[in-house]
Amino acid sequence: MKAIVQDRYGNADVLQLRDVDQPTAGDGEVLLQVHAAALSRGTLHLMTGEPYLLRLSFGVRKPKNPVPGQDVAGTVVAVGPNVTRFAVGDEVFGIARGSFAEYTIAREDKLAHKPPSITFEQAAAMPISGLTALRALDAAEVEAGQTVLVVGASGGVGTYAVQLAVARGAIVTGVASTRKTQLVKDLGANAVIDYTHDDFTDGSRTFDVVVAIGGMTPVKRLRRALTRTGTLIIVGGEGDARWSPGLGRQMHATLLSPFVSQRLTMVMNKEHHSGLDRLAALATEGELASFMDRPYPLAEAPDAVRHLAAGKAAGKVVITV
Ligand SMILES: NC(=O)c1ccc[n+]([C@@H]2O[C@H](COP(=O)([O-])OP(=O)(O)OC[C@H]3O[C@@H](n4cnc5c(N)ncnc54)[C@H](OP(=O)(O)O)[C@@H]3O)[C@@H](O)[C@H]2O)c1
Repeated sequence: MKAIVQDRYGNADVLQLRDVDQPTAGDGEVLLQVHAAALSRGTLHLMTGEPYLLRLSFGVRKPKNPVPGQDVAGTVVAVGPNVTRFAVGDEVFGIARGSFAEYTIAREDKLAHKPPSITFEQAAAMPISGLTALRALDAAEVEAGQTVLVVGASGGVGTYAVQLAVARGAIVTGVASTRKTQLVKDLGANAVIDYTHDDFTDGSRTFDVVVAIGGMTPVKRLRRALTRTGTLIIVGGEGDARWSPGLGRQMHATLLSPFVSQRLTMVMNKEHHSGLDRLAALATEGELASFMDRPYPLAEAPDAVRHLAAGKAAGKVVITV
């Protein structure tokens, strides 16, 4: 089969399109014919091997799995022993082990049935970013009528977080750069703040919930955008930490929380089909859609990676196979 392969950690230049052996499904796993894959910031971290601490789990000197990519949508072509939820021919989406390829392996507990009403590209965009956004909104216990600020609204996680907050009846403000403000309005946000012109932490506006997904705004400043009893959820942000995963802000928020009137916390994504089933139901009901940049064919995966790494992507970057 054709696959994107990396023999060492590095930037997009280490990715090569090659012929490799098709994988086989083990216990509790399925073999998928991949129709679409998607990129996420996590995929870039696994590709570069930075922060270095990641290498303890994913390969010290080079990636244990040479085929990058996690998000996937495709058709089941074989099932391994003890698979109970899927059969050959099922159309699925979820998280795989090496999705930048014509075929890939996924654990059945990380897959859900693809809603018939959405395309493979739309489904592939959703798993990691959608699951993370869902965790953030659940952790914040967002309710109708609350004001919610989504920092990083134009990115992978943010495009789903805005829509999920709108679907819960919240009054949503998204933060993004100038070129992507229209996208955030299209997601259904009530207002948009352009972080390149306006300081959303100047204290002139406060919100019941702040979901911090993009940028590395310090906790002290994020708290200025919160009401006195508001909730801060830190999802991530790209720092220049090369050794550890840059969890300093999250740790700071969690340790400070018991001593202040606001609730300050962090979330970690949970890769499980229960969340994927909820995303599928929301997509079927028309409450959640994937907002995607232009798709890239498999052979152009390195360009797709460069596009995301440069911060140029609006919404999700998808690879068609
Ligand atoms: N906790 C978890 O389990 C988990 C799961 C998934 C992802 N993450 C992390 O969450 C972060 C976001 O992931 P993603 O996939 O959404 O990334 P992404 O697609 O690259 O989006 C990044 C977002 O951050 C915005 N942004 C960049 N610089 C900013 C600044 N200085 N101030 C305010 N906003 C800024 C971008 O806006 P513009 O593009 O408009 O500039 C964009 O909306 C990453 O650090 C990722 O590693 C964590």
